[in-house]
Amino acid sequence: MKSKNTKGIILAGGAGTRLYPASIHISKILLPVYDKPMIYYPLSTLMLAGIKDILIISNPDDIDNFKKLLGDGSHVGISIQYKIQYEPKGIADAILIGEDFIGEDNIALILGDNIFYGQGFSDKIKNVMERDSGATVFGYNVKTPEKFGVVEFDKNMKAISLEEKPQKPKSNYAVVGLYFYDNKAIEYAKQLKPSARGELEITDLNKIYLEKKQLNVEILGRGFVWLDTGSFDTLLQASNFVQSMELNAGKKIGCIEEIAIKKGYISKEKIIENMHPKFKNEYLEYVLSLNKEELLNT
Ligand code: G1P
Repeated sequence: MKSKNTKGIILAGGAGTRLYPASIHISKILLPVYDKPMIYYPLSTLMLAGIKDILIISNPDDIDNFKKLLGDGSHVGISIQYKIQYEPKGIADAILIGEDFIGEDNIALILGDNIFYGQGFSDKIKNVMERDSGATVFGYNVKTPEKFGVVEFDKNMKAISLEEKPQKPKSNYAVVGLYFYDNKAIEYAKQLKPSARGELEITDLNKIYLEKKQLNVEILGRGFVWLDTGSFDTLLQASNFVQSMELNAGKKIGCIEEIAIKKGYISKEKIIENMHPKFKNEYLEYVLSLNKEELLNT
């Protein structure tokens, strides 16, 4: 049986107050992480997983800037739609906002300020998407788990509890901002009540799956890089990381044009046609230098 289709949602909302004054006039998710806007990174994660139907959710003030940047996605061979989150009602609210877009399909929800980098990650995601039912989240060892959703494991590494920003974390494993759900998530999200901070917490949605024994928690190991770019330090850290990797290898991270060519979403000629004459820089030079056959081997 063919596994169900998965629709992608990027939540690019939030007030971004931790980055004021840098994000008063613009969504933090449009700020650059080294050489490209932050949203290119989560978008490229979805594209690498083969997800071509994507909904971007943002605030009333910012949505037009996302449209200006990414349009309908056809320039990179995908389809992008947009919806507004009128108030910062939480991550799980994205599933309610996206209900019509999701339809009968499964869901991949990614946060606009999360960057994922590591060998074999797209294959891992593709395996996750083969699962028709339940939910999958990822645990990543961090120094400051109290800033995140935290998953606790038993001695067999089976997930036994989830807590949102606990004062006394029961483990060092943060639940990162990439979540896979079956279609029941819509029904479950409707049952959620706002937390003390007035949000529909994604951790509460994940807890429903955990209680039903339908939550898979995969570990992202030490060779993997996950960055949440929501503060000045982590934003700079992410830019430094991307710069260092790109200068060293001569290959870009999160270049949506490159991924589109590699995945065969659109031809290189069409991509270049769409970039010209606006781009006159190193980014265009890089895309011009790409070779599809070589990309297939990387
Ligand atoms: C959110 C989630 C949290 C998750 C984190 C990942 O935190 O609530 O569970 O670990 O994203 O980036 P927030 O962005 O609200 O601080």
